Amino acid sequence: METFRARCEAGSKALTGMAILKITEFPARVLAQTGEPVEAFDDELKKLVADMFETMYHAEGVGLAAPQVGLSLRLFVMDCDGIRLVAANPEILEADGEQSGDEGCLSVGKVASPLKRAARVVLRAQDTGGNFFEQEATGLAARCLLHETDHCDGILFINRLSPLKREMVKKRFQKIKKWN
Ligand code: NI
Repeated sequence: METFRARCEAGSKALTGMAILKITEFPARVLAQTGEPVEAFDDELKKLVADMFETMYHAEGVGLAAPQVGLSLRLFVMDCDGIRLVAANPEILEADGEQSGDEGCLSVGKVASPLKRAARVVLRAQDTGGNFFEQEATGLAARCLLHETDHCDGILFINRLSPLKREMVKKRFQKIKKWN
């Protein structure tokens, strides 16, 4: 962890106490690991969550999981289709129906590919105080809950694509990486 002084010297972001974290990209190993459970619901967790929201908004994403900032933890933040939440130790309790749509990921250069997902889900997780809650979602928000919960289990959306589609996403991502 950085010291407070290091944060202050890091620039104006430190004034709000928040920092933009580096986003881990495919094929980093941490993205393929099952996260450790969140056990300490303390100030350090709250700080991490604040930084993760800041990082997600800066990257113009709708969800961000801890492995995407290099931490093998079962934790994500999301602000998608009117649902803003923090989920520690997420579990999908119910998933039904089917939806079609494009999906992408900040760790794979936002390269989108069609992927079928459940149309409706119920998530159970803990908030930053350790309190359990349930969240129902449909449509894009349901897709996001499934995508972020997958990250906590070391699964990327490209793992759920056909081999052909997966190769297309990987190739486009490699091209983007070369241009940048
Ligand atoms: Ni993602």
